[in-house]
This record gives sequence, structure tokens and C-alpha cells, in this order.
Amino acid sequence: MTTPATPTRTTAPLPHWETIPDDLPAAIVEVKRALRARIAASGRSVADVFAEVEDRIRVEVADIGATLARGEQVWPVLDYADVEAGTIAPELVAAVQRRGCAVIRGHFPRERAQAWDRSVVEYVERNRFFENYRGPADDFFGSVMSNPEIYPIYWSPAQMQARQNPRMATVQSFLNARWTHTSEGRRWFDPDRDTMYPDRIRRRPPGATSGGLGAHLDPGCLDLWMTEGYQQHFRHLFDGNVAAYDPWDAAYRTEAAQYPGSTMCSAFRTFQGWTALSEMRHDQGVLHTVPIPLAMAYLMLRPLLDDVPADSMCGVALNQAFPVTERWHPLLLEALTPIPDVQPGDSVWWHCDMIHSVAPVTDQQGWGNVMYIPAAPWCAKNEAYLESVRAAFRAGDSPSDFPAENYERDWDGRFTEADLTAIGRHGLGL
Ligand SMILES: [Fe+2]
Repeated sequence: MTTPATPTRTTAPLPHWETIPDDLPAAIVEVKRALRARIAASGRSVADVFAEVEDRIRVEVADIGATLARGEQVWPVLDYADVEAGTIAPELVAAVQRRGCAVIRGHFPRERAQAWDRSVVEYVERNRFFENYRGPADDFFGSVMSNPEIYPIYWSPAQMQARQNPRMATVQSFLNARWTHTSEGRRWFDPDRDTMYPDRIRRRPPGATSGGLGAHLDPGCLDLWMTEGYQQHFRHLFDGNVAAYDPWDAAYRTEAAQYPGSTMCSAFRTFQGWTALSEMRHDQGVLHTVPIPLAMAYLMLRPLLDDVPADSMCGVALNQAFPVTERWHPLLLEALTPIPDVQPGDSVWWHCDMIHSVAPVTDQQGWGNVMYIPAAPWCAKNEAYLESVRAAFRAGDSPSDFPAENYERDWDGRFTEADLTAIGRHGLGL
């Protein structure tokens, strides 16, 4: 069902669908036609606008290549002590904004992170997790190994202690502040208060062989073009005004409707992130990103070019991660860059719209252990999701964004409400 188009500032209003359209191919054809017409109303063709995006991105791809050729780190690396003291060099803050990603060295002391790693093992073994493991419940991180690499565990003391640690709040505030939270006369989120977004643990053992994860995006799928909130968020791209598009402006983002699906994230995350619980070398099947925030403009406009079938969004579909491929996005994949080597207690962060992948590895050297903890600032969207998070926390269930595996319901040693600090209570909206 098409809902009536909202009046916009331009001459070409956009149809939008706040829930999944009944006839999806027809809706794709319709929205693409409307987007092309709207860009044409700017006086430039879609091809011209896309060429401008490509030119800007080529500059970034070349800079990333040159940085690597000089033997320098592409990923900005910040010391936690500087984040806490507010003494990060302005060039480094600018680098975080340019690359859209960062490593925080010593976010937690090494011993603290290693103790958390041991405590996760103790928690799952005491509760006979491996004996009772029923296999991957989704195919997102699916694996044929009998022991999981992704533990669908959310409420261990280790995870909760990290989530409510003041050092985590300090880093989340710093990262949230890279975004513009007030624009268009509205305040979209509170950068100094995070909502807890419980996610899983990965523990990949030495000797592991893994096919990795292909390059993809996590913030949405067809809804990125088809719901009103996202259309407004990307309004400058859809007006053909690439220079005005700011990947760091949260406008309309924290109230955009999303299409449900197994890969959907209900929260608005300024940055996705994880905290390392083991050493990881950059060549051992680690996270890569395309460290170019403007790549989102390429991804959003590419389906509007003439060589893409009328009912295609370059492979984007419901219920699947947004794929980034050689066929449609070769320029972007040239910039795929691994994280630097990390130590236990370092954390790794990337802008929520940033393309990322996990490299394949054969006979992995050392462990590959992380706790996924993002930055999800307080906003209407995140507050709404918190209600189900609180219920899952109290019951020991899997949060509603994840498969309902509910392993921890009766587990001994699960983190409880009495263990929450003020930050933890605040993060859960208690
Ligand atoms: Fe992802």
C-alpha cells in the first residue's frame, strides 16, 4: 500500500512505504522512478550526480592507498587516556571523522579484558553451554562447526560489567559527539547518555578456518530508500546535492521506520563496535572496513543508474544484510582495509553506515575473542527498544533483535538487577 506522499521542499515528492510493500518489485520501480525525477528536478542528471560522488570517493581511495604505501596506519588509533582527558590531537579527531572508524588503545586494562575472557568461559562451561548448543539459529554468522564461534550469550557478568563501565560511557560519549545531534531545529539524540544494546560474544579458537563474511552494511535494506524517515535522512542525495550530504548528521535518522527482518537492528548506533578480549593480528581473519563515510552516497545512488534493472536495488533484499559487491561497487571495495593488530582491552569502532567485512582465515593463529558493544545514544528509537531489552534482561532471554534462543534463562551466575551500577541502570532506562 502506498501511503500518501508527504509534501517536500522540492517539486518531486517521493512515495514512501512505512511497512513492507505488498508488491515489492512494483514499489522499487516506483520509488526509483520518483528518485530519478527528483534528482532531475535539480537540473542535473543522475549520472552527473553519481559522477560527482565517484570523483570524491576516488580521492579518498587514493589517499588510503597512499597511506598504506607509506607504511602508515589507515585506521586512526587513539589512546584511551587521551579520550578520558579530552586531550586528543585535533588532527586525530579529524581523522576519525574522515575515516569513520577508530581503534581505542587501552580502552580497558589488558588484565581486565583477559579476566573477562576467562569469566565468559567459566560462565558458559558452568552452565554446560557446549553440551546444550543447538546450532546457529540464523545464517548471518552461520557456521558448520559443532562448537559455535558466535555465542548467543547476552547477560554474562563480563558483558554487563563492560557495558556499564565508566570507561565505556566515556568512549561512547566521545564517539556520539562525532555526530551532529541537533539540526533542522530538532535534537535527535543525547550524546552523553547511552542506551544499552546487548549483543553477542565471538570466541574463535586457534586453528580455526573460516570463510569470513562478505562486505556488507548493517543499518537497513530496502527501507533505506523506501521509508519516509530514511528518505528525509538522505534528502540531500535525493535532491542531487552531494555537497550538502553529511554522513554525520543524524537528522530524521532516529525516527526512521525500518522493515522487520532477521538482520534488522532496532537501535540507532552512532558506531558499531567491539572490545577485544584477546590479541588479534591484522592478517588473522579480522574486521575490514571501507573507511570512507561518503561511500553511503555511492551505495544509495548506484541503483538509480541506467544499467541497473528497473526493479533492482543492486542486490539489496529483505531479510539479508545489504551486500556490497564487485559487480556494482568495485571502486568502494578497492579501499577495504583491515584493523591494525589489537591487544586485549583495545576497542574497535566504525560508523554505523560503513561497509565492513570479516576476512577469511585458514588455521588461525591465536584466539579471536570479542564482545560486541556499540554506541547507541539516548533517542526515541533506542528508548522504545529498551522496553524489550529490560524484559529480556530480567528473564535471561535473547533480546528481541536476535533469534529467541534464550539459553541463559536458568543459568547460574547470570548478571542480575542488583549488580547494576548507576550507569547500568541509566542505560537500561531504570
Ligand atoms: Fe555487520
